[in-house]
Amino acid sequence: MNKKSVTDINVRNKRVLVRVDFNVPLSSKNPEDNITVTDDTRIRAALPTLNYLLDQGATLILCSHLGRPVSAADIQFSMDPVAARLSELLDRPVTKLDEVVGDSVTAAVAAAQSGDVIMLENTRFEPGEKKNDPMLSQALADLADVYVDDAFGSAHRAHASTEGAAQAIRAKGGACASGFLMQKELDALGMAVSNPPHPYVAIMGGAKISDKIKLIENLLDSADMILIGGGMANTFLKAQGYEMGTSLVEADAVPEATRLLALAGDRLVLPVDVVVADAFSADADHRTVPVDAIPSDKMALDIGPASVDLFAGKLADARLVIWNGPTGAFELAPFARSTFALAALLADAADSGTAVIIGGGDSAAAVKKAGLTERMTHVSTGGGASLELLEGKLLPGIAALDDK
Ligand code: 3PG
Repeated sequence: MNKKSVTDINVRNKRVLVRVDFNVPLSSKNPEDNITVTDDTRIRAALPTLNYLLDQGATLILCSHLGRPVSAADIQFSMDPVAARLSELLDRPVTKLDEVVGDSVTAAVAAAQSGDVIMLENTRFEPGEKKNDPMLSQALADLADVYVDDAFGSAHRAHASTEGAAQAIRAKGGACASGFLMQKELDALGMAVSNPPHPYVAIMGGAKISDKIKLIENLLDSADMILIGGGMANTFLKAQGYEMGTSLVEADAVPEATRLLALAGDRLVLPVDVVVADAFSADADHRTVPVDAIPSDKMALDIGPASVDLFAGKLADARLVIWNGPTGAFELAPFARSTFALAALLADAADSGTAVIIGGGDSAAAVKKAGLTERMTHVSTGGGASLELLEGKLLPGIAALDDK
């Protein structure tokens, strides 16, 4: 990557504004409850950068969004539980402030010493955050000497605390660099975009093809084969003329699916069997049928064992595998089989030297649920960001950092 890393800039005893992506799952959406963090993966992933900065004697001013609050009145999205968890993981106090910018923040930052950790309130409590308001970026930049961006998961958002803050710090002569997590993500996903080893096989899943048309098109330039599962397979199967019963099919996307099938030829591999059920429910009656025998009153909720075998054959010689999107409704046990079988197969492949990269979001959650995260080559912390990077886009949060 040609962007400066935190080790390329002087952070010793500096006040560092660190944009992290601590948009983590919470135990409740009810502000009356004692809300806690239910998955701290993203917090842990930022620790190498935070510990490095602390070792350098920096004062940390951390900022992140959390959820999609409409305003500061949505206090269930306060950073309080995140600060509490971070404090446990860092084993030092984290001073959580009740504003993003403002007098209380200015005073706390002015009083902070080397080694102190301050966490600002949810950046999306400020109306200027999503608008990339220069006034908010400037107020954030005024707090610090340098900017470190470790928020890979937010790198596709040009917001005031990402793209805007980097520009504002640079405008006042401060350096803007990536953190270690950001670099790790860019190394892993960047290799797939610009220099993939072959054979390169992509597994695509998730509910909708409309979200992934650009990705599939881009992958057709670089990957040798694309294996399709999940709800999006239904739309491709429909485009091939199969009756899909009550399955989720994106009727509007059928022409696009037809076009992609023609473009890809036999490089796009579809399931040959599916697990069908009466309803989207763990208790629903279910069975496996070939794709040409889907009953009119049933919906496909997973790909079947013959499809997993077919995919396994295609994956056997792969030197690089990218997986984006579960191949079934893995949150319901009867429809989790293919996703977990593929996760196990990919963990074995990674053990034998295949580079296995798991896109963030649901695929990362599935691999975690299967207990296989540690065995993969890389599990991204960014859902939308990894998708856009693999689509070949330049992400604004990354573009804004200093070139080497
Ligand atoms: C994510 O979880 O993908 C990132 O934190 C971005 O969140 P957003 O989609 O609400 O912008």
